[in-house]
Formats: sequence, C-alpha cells, structure tokens
Amino acid sequence: MSLKCKPTVTRRAFVASSLAGVMSTTLPFPGAAEAATQKFSLRAAQGRTRIVPEPHSDTAAWCYNGKVPGPEIRIRHGERLQVEVTNDLAEETTVHWHGIRLPNAMDGVPHLTQVPIAPGDKFVYEFDAVDAGTFWYHPHQRSFEQVGRGLYGPLIVEEANPPRVDREVTWVLDDWRLTDDASISDDFGNAHDVSHAGRLGNTVTINGLVPETFEVASGERIRLRLINAANARIFALDFGDHTPRIIALDGQPVTPHDPPGGLVVLGPAMRADVILDCIGEPGAQAQLVDRAYRGNDFRVLDFTYADTALREATPDWPIALPANPIPEPDLSSAQRHEVTFTGGMMGMMVEREMGLERRGGMMGGGMMGMMHDGRGIWFVNGKAAEGHVLDPFLTLKRDASHILEMTNATAFDHPIHLHGHSFRVISRNGAPTPHREWQDTVLMAPRERVEIAFVADNLGDWMFHCHILEHQAAGMMGVIRVA
Ligand code: C2O
Ligand code: CU
Repeated sequence: MSLKCKPTVTRRAFVASSLAGVMSTTLPFPGAAEAATQKFSLRAAQGRTRIVPEPHSDTAAWCYNGKVPGPEIRIRHGERLQVEVTNDLAEETTVHWHGIRLPNAMDGVPHLTQVPIAPGDKFVYEFDAVDAGTFWYHPHQRSFEQVGRGLYGPLIVEEANPPRVDREVTWVLDDWRLTDDASISDDFGNAHDVSHAGRLGNTVTINGLVPETFEVASGERIRLRLINAANARIFALDFGDHTPRIIALDGQPVTPHDPPGGLVVLGPAMRADVILDCIGEPGAQAQLVDRAYRGNDFRVLDFTYADTALREATPDWPIALPANPIPEPDLSSAQRHEVTFTGGMMGMMVEREMGLERRGGMMGGGMMGMMHDGRGIWFVNGKAAEGHVLDPFLTLKRDASHILEMTNATAFDHPIHLHGHSFRVISRNGAPTPHREWQDTVLMAPRERVEIAFVADNLGDWMFHCHILEHQAAGMMGVIRVA
C-alpha cells in the first residue's frame, strides 16, 4: 500500500488514517502490545548555541528543544516510543528516525509517508523499538539545510543485557561551515558543493561543541557510540594506541573486530559502537586524529588521563552484543537487481573508464549540469529525483530475499542509505566482506561495486538515497517499493 497523500485528504484525516494504518498493519516484528510506551517531545525552532569557545560569539542555529544536538532519546529494547514533534520553524519539516525499522507511515518522509508538519503544527510519531542499537533522528524536509543548521539528535535503544563497561558515551560528530563571526555560512546547496563532495565545513564538533580534551582514566573501559551527523564530511578516526574494537555498525551488532587499517570510518549518517580500553599511563595525553582526507589530517581532541588509575589491567569482560531479530536473506534464492549511480563532476569520465553504457540520455550522468541550479546532477539508474514523491525504480517482492548489485560510477564517495530495512553488505568489488555487516548506510568509494542483501519484509515505499545531503537534493535518490 502506498501512503502517498492525496490532495483531497485533509491533514487531520490523513494523520488519523495513517495512524489507523499503523494499528492494523501486520508488522514483520514481534508485537509489543504490553511494552511500556516512552513519551518524548521535540520542538524544532531557531535558537542560539555555542559551537566555538569564547571569545567567539555563539551561533544562530536551528535546534530541537533549544539545543544542538537535540536531546538524546534513550529507551530500552522492546519499548514503544512516542514522540510529539512541534514545528516552530518558519518552514515545513518532518522527523526521520534514521536506521530504525518501523512502519512506513512513521518514517518521516514528506509527501511520501506523511504530510509535512506545517509551521505551528504538530505530528506524533509512534513505533516499537524492534532493534537495540545506536540510531539518530533528523528532518527529511530540505535536509541539506535543516540538518546543516543543527537539526539532529541521537536515539539510543539499550540492550536488555548490554556488555559491561565503566562508562557509556555518545559522540555526535558534525562539521560546520562557519564564517569569521561564528555564524553559519548560508551558501547551502551551492553548485560547487552539489556537484563535488558536498558541503564540507571548517569546524568539527562533538555533541555540538568544538572539543578540546576528553578525560579518561587508566584501565577504564568505555563504550563509545559514534554518530556522523555531518552533511558531507566523512570521518576516519585514528585512536592511536587505543585500538578500539568495533562491536556494532549502524546500530547493528557485528563480530567484534579491530577497525580495518586502524581507522574507524564513518560516512555521513553512519554509526559505530566501539569498545575503548584506556591503556595509557596515569597523567598521559594522547591524540584523536582524523585522517579521512589525504593531506588534511587534523587533531580532533586530546585524551587526557587522570593522575590515578582506575585499574591495573585491561578488563577481560566479554564485548559481543546480542543479535537483533533481523530476518536472514537467503542468498541462493535471492532476486538480483542492478543499481548504478552516475553523475557529478568528472562523472562522464568515470563512466567511460568503467565501460558503462550511457543511461538516461544527454545529461544522464552528465559532467556537472550546473545549468540545472542544483537539480539533476546525480542519477540512480539514469534518473535524477525531484522531490520525494517518485515512481519506484524497483519493486521488491515482500518477504523475499533480494540482492542489490550497486555500482558507483562516479568520481566521489557516496554513503548509500535504505529506509525501513537493515541489509547485509556481502561483497565489495567481488570479494566477500569479512564480517557481512548489517548496515543501513554503506559507504561506496569511487568506481566501487558493492552487493547488499536483505529480506524485503517491510511493506511500503522506502527512500533510497545518498546521505551526502547535497547529492540527495540534486537527484541521488529513488524509491524502492516493497509490495
Ligand atoms: Cu538519514 Cu533518508 O535519511
Ligand atoms: Cu553522494
């Protein structure tokens, strides 16, 4: 069933009917009729927040509940979440619960799954937390500006029995383009950002602030939940001698492992849960360095060790997380679908190199397309999306297993996100991935081929797009229908 809003349906009627739809839909998830409902409210509005320390000025931003990031919503696995969202912005908005498997009507995609929340209006989201993990929320309406101005927050679903740690810390990473007076540069969606690597900024924050130090104790074990909320910046975090172990990616448990190449890599929208054992001596200092962009390494912060140790030896407590109830795709019977991404600056060259046939005519994957004022620069199977109400480019049989064979025929990295499902990343450039990780967003390097597999068990029309928000706005988006 498509939940596209029909113009004749009033907003009130639409909300009522979509809620009724939620009640009556048979979900692929265990019911939680008796589970507790946790209630939160979010108010999106302009505000001021301190991003850079004094003597700089504070910064006008768009905030949830007056803060950047918005409040950490934290519930327990199996609980039901209800969030009343009030829009006090001067424009429409929605909230999307990134990575959460939920009913389509709660997915927060304007015009596709709900009428956008008008200024002064409210919308109540409600769904069961079927998976434990690290998720986040953000608008899906003009995301490149709304998220870029500060609208995002963490959503944590706790395991019933989490692994033992001394401390749990959430770091929401962001990257801002600030002017000299610490205000947000208002050149959102400019042609250069859109056709290249997106809106890269000049100021990296953790939980909304430029970080300086992070205090730890020798022997301490920390579970660090990392969330990349940046429009476009990729992070590749080097923890030095700390060798964090990755226990979850995009909220989903993974076999604990050291980060490949020693770097925790997070494309926009991606998350990682890492176990960090603080192995430094009392009083020591160590740096956290970002190495995502060659030649542009920078120090994110210093770990500073307290003068007294918490314990002598590293704890040997188990770190693996319990699995979430995601259906396992059957690769032997899976239906295969090709998805090719094209476009952007130098895109034509890459397509030619890769020997791809042109798809989508003259500008289908064209060099830059700046004449389109930011639209129609990026393509999914030859089509550039305009808005969210789109004919599905793929229709997947419900409850069947599917493999998407994806090709990045462009000169840029793209974090590709599917709504409503988590998928296994099964191969990269033909080689099986060592951990077959569940993700909801997979980072694809230029020219890379990636295969993902999943059971399409969640009915509805789901967005599938690049999470570099400028690329998304300029066409790199499509709808996958599960029917
Ligand atoms: Cu995080 Cu379609 O979004
Ligand atoms: Cu992209």
